[in-house]
Amino acid sequence: MWSILIVFLLSIVAYWFTDGLIPKLRDLFVKAGLFGVDLCKTSKSKVPEAIGVVSGCVFLVTSFLFIPIAFGNGLMDREHFPHNEFAELLAALLSICCMLLLGFADDVLDLRWRYKLLLPTIASLPLLVVYYVNFNSTSFAVPIQLREWLGTSVNIGFLYYVYMGMLAVFCTNAINILAGINGLEVGQAVVIALSIISFNLMELRGDQYKAHQFSLYIMLPYLATTLALLKHNWYPSKVFVGDTFCYVSGMTFAVVGILSHFSKTVLLFFIPQVINFVYSVPQIFHIIPCPRHRLPKYNGELDILQPSRALIPKQDMGFLSNLILKILTVLRLVDRVEDKESITINNLTIINLFLIKFGDMTENKLTISLLSFQVACSCVAFLIRYPMASYFYDS
Ligand code: UD1
Ligand code: MG
Repeated sequence: MWSILIVFLLSIVAYWFTDGLIPKLRDLFVKAGLFGVDLCKTSKSKVPEAIGVVSGCVFLVTSFLFIPIAFGNGLMDREHFPHNEFAELLAALLSICCMLLLGFADDVLDLRWRYKLLLPTIASLPLLVVYYVNFNSTSFAVPIQLREWLGTSVNIGFLYYVYMGMLAVFCTNAINILAGINGLEVGQAVVIALSIISFNLMELRGDQYKAHQFSLYIMLPYLATTLALLKHNWYPSKVFVGDTFCYVSGMTFAVVGILSHFSKTVLLFFIPQVINFVYSVPQIFHIIPCPRHRLPKYNGELDILQPSRALIPKQDMGFLSNLILKILTVLRLVDRVEDKESITINNLTIINLFLIKFGDMTENKLTISLLSFQVACSCVAFLIRYPMASYFYDS
């Protein structure tokens, strides 16, 4: 357990380092043309963008420095060096590193959505190869109630690799589309990271302690650097995190979920992101028009946020968009205004939905409300994972 203590101490250093580095590099990013305008403020000043690359680099460097410490015993006794575990850690860091590079490319080049789906798939390949070599376990445990028909486990073979690849794509993009107000991208990542770390600590005394230790090796430096980033990204944001941060975060969560064998639990910590993704599907797949930005509309006079809207010309509406609008209307999940030629609806994100259900509010209050929802969902996830899981599974 001393190795966890060392990674914890290294993480504290990483926090201080990231916290000091971000203000020093801000002007450099603006000079390089990497900046955005805060769409929820009256001031149109340049806010440095893609600062996630700074916290991501410190996170990776901390993890690299930790390698000789984690494998110190193996280095002394090279005959018994744990090559499998070493390959796992290297593949995990390679996948995260790939995502950092690809995410930064996206921030600089503003790639199209189809590439945003392709990039995490490519970056997850090293991970999948190591998974194949080290574990190649492609079975799902079957709930007790279904065992009579399906047996104790179901082997889905190659489809398991498709599932893991899709997990990486989902985790990276799900954070990126629940974004647009100060502190939300980083805040949700902090809550998810804290949930994973709590889960690891609870499981550290179990049979799978090695897997949870591995997860802590990655999650602790990630959390530390992300907390430092949050300090600068919190309302009013002095820096924007960029897609780099969303990609690195999503891949980090996918990596620990896959290699430490708790990918379903990781998904449980993504409940708000899953809801936001399902709600966004009609716009993401362009069944309903999707503007470049779906973040709430800023009312400068009152300094509050209001739901942003998308316009759908009636002549463009097909069977599917009609059906989706009807379902959303029946479920009271959409605020629609109709005239002769068009229908306007709120952009389909839970950020706008919160504003519809709870009324217009300030940006800071909206971020805090959404993060409180994320925390509440993590509590539900723990309830599902512990008391309820024992009803469906043996242990
Ligand atoms: C995703 C969302 C988009 C949302 C955007 C906000 C989808 C399909 N895409 O796009 O709807 O508007 O994220 O990040 O859901 N910004 C702020 N305040 C913030 C954070 C960002 O005003 O707190 C603005 C800034 O102008 C910044 C820009 O958003 O420059 C960054 O957007 P980007 O991350 O490039 O958007 P996408 O990830 O493509
Ligand atoms: Mg983004």
